[in-house]
Amino acid sequence: MRDDGRLWYGGDYNPEQWPAEVWRQDVELMRRARVTLVTVGVFAWSRLEPEPGRYTLDWLDEVLDLLHDAGIRVALATPTASPPPWFSLAHPDALPVTADGVRLHHGSRDTYCAAAPAYRAAARRITEVLADRYAHHPALALWHVHNEYGTTCHCPHAEVAFRRWLADRHGDLDTLNDAWTTSFWSQHYTDWAQIGTPRATQYLHNPGHLLDFRRFWSDTLLAAYTDQRDVLRAANPAVPVTTNYVLGDWVPVDHARWAREVDLVAIDHYPSAVDLGAEEQTALAADLARGWARHGAPGRAPDWLLMETAPNLIYAAGRMHTKEPGRMLRQSVAHVARGSRGALFFQWRAPRGGAERFHSALVPHAGADSRVYREAVRLGQALDRLAEVRGRVAARVALAWDAASGWALQHPGLPAERLNHHEEVAAAHRALWHAGLACDVAVPGDPLDGYPLLVVPALYLADEATAGWVRDHVHGGGHALVTYLSGVADAHARIHLDGYPGALRDVLGVRVEEFHPLGDDERVALTDGGTGTVWAETVGLTGARTVTGYAGGVLAGQPAVTRHTYGAGVAWYVSTRPDDATYRRLLTEAATQAGVAPTCPDAPAGVEAVRRGGDDGSWLFLLNHTDRPQTVPASGVDLLTDATVTDAVHLPAGGVAVLREPTG
Ligand code: GLA
Repeated sequence: MRDDGRLWYGGDYNPEQWPAEVWRQDVELMRRARVTLVTVGVFAWSRLEPEPGRYTLDWLDEVLDLLHDAGIRVALATPTASPPPWFSLAHPDALPVTADGVRLHHGSRDTYCAAAPAYRAAARRITEVLADRYAHHPALALWHVHNEYGTTCHCPHAEVAFRRWLADRHGDLDTLNDAWTTSFWSQHYTDWAQIGTPRATQYLHNPGHLLDFRRFWSDTLLAAYTDQRDVLRAANPAVPVTTNYVLGDWVPVDHARWAREVDLVAIDHYPSAVDLGAEEQTALAADLARGWARHGAPGRAPDWLLMETAPNLIYAAGRMHTKEPGRMLRQSVAHVARGSRGALFFQWRAPRGGAERFHSALVPHAGADSRVYREAVRLGQALDRLAEVRGRVAARVALAWDAASGWALQHPGLPAERLNHHEEVAAAHRALWHAGLACDVAVPGDPLDGYPLLVVPALYLADEATAGWVRDHVHGGGHALVTYLSGVADAHARIHLDGYPGALRDVLGVRVEEFHPLGDDERVALTDGGTGTVWAETVGLTGARTVTGYAGGVLAGQPAVTRHTYGAGVAWYVSTRPDDATYRRLLTEAATQAGVAPTCPDAPAGVEAVRRGGDDGSWLFLLNHTDRPQTVPASGVDLLTDATVTDAVHLPAGGVAVLREPTG
């Protein structure tokens, strides 16, 4: 795919918003910035098909030819995330319905129900038209299907499809009634027709119902994607097909499962913190993408791509923050360090109007005579110099992530409102990141060879297979650090009985009888001087020994962190959310005991170090996220400057170095 050997650099390009003379300027500016790939047509349906069945593709022909003549490759999008107004008027039944029963109208984007036959048929048709015309266009490098799949719906089509999906999953109503515990609140179903989508109701929903609804939508959206993918593949099997995953707390689909169906995992990443938090989030997003990519078709390289990020903008706390000079480059290189095939942005040129008129762009409203465009040019030069980097990221810690646990911890009726799988994964990842410990994200069941330490944050749902995954790892000599709320419920969100964390009690050597969720500002002192937040619980020891105790509150004197020797390995249990420094110390200790060292043990605080490599060589990425110059012991040739470094790299404030390390 990186057919000319260069990294992909560019982003969403919307020529349909501009007259043809601007296209020529765009292509010239792209050439100057060394742009290699642009995504065209993501929301262009009404320009491509202004009336049902009437296609106007001449403008796209011209744009693709212009790009091709300039040596710029194209990720051609299918425009199905934004059906035109004529479509909604012709098929009002395909407009989405909210849980409250409100039917939404066009006037924004994503106004469709992906379970509605008319929508699916129209999406297939426009995809066929694009495939017929462009599948062999020389500029085409990649198909980009749709945009950020995640729209759900409660319309009658969705209801019918949901019932069909439930019948497939559960087989018969007895099994479903049992899985959903419908004996509670008299919800027993005697006919499939009685089951609807979880619409607005009087009080709390049934957790099994909610969980299956999330699974259903993940599968239904995947089917909408594969519909289009199959059309595109049939037209030219040589061109890879993907779709851009949306990230964040709101994870609408099971990305790891989707990875089997895309030829390349692609993510959109928009940090929501302005300070170092943005860098922590960047590292996590990239590690998630790499982890999902491991689930690709057998034999396929676990490659992934940063498909969208904002050039000069972090949206946080209700406003847009401008990135300081150099940050766009540093964040882009951070993604490449963690395995991305390049850095693509939303968007190339800032639009004049429309809902996202103030979203940042490589060519901002100020035009090419601007700091952002000048930085875009420098970024193009830098990425050009990184083309030789390849190989896997060196990581010996596995970090568990599970879409369904995330969904289940969003249910109402839990012991506290602020429980969140994604936040727990992020907290563990942040602690590892600050400790300099590289990790790969793993989904329950993934092979754990080569990972002496497995970290399991709030893996709420654990059936026997998932529990066995942790147990076998430890029994065979691995180390695991498991946090509260892991192993509490089964795959249908029913509680494992006889003490928490039911599915993992044996391997952890603990038995928890009671939870003590903490208030928003509540902290509980720990005996090692740290504090716990969010959660605490009464931990009974059934084989484990106490590492750290609670030092205050109702649990004073009782275990907070424990360690259990199980088989040939060790299992730690952490019954609260430690403060960041304590968490970092704890993970450093667990890693040391497991024989895992930081990537660059002497890197100063605030300098991120990532090593990539394999048979072709080894590359060390050093990213200075501080506002002071920093020195890091290392040696090699800096690809960005050609400087040879013999003992230490001197990084300017906010600076970056990528060393080709000496071999042998
Ligand atoms: C997502 C979408 C884009 C745009 C950006 C704005 O990534 O894919 O179309 O809306 O967000 O942040």
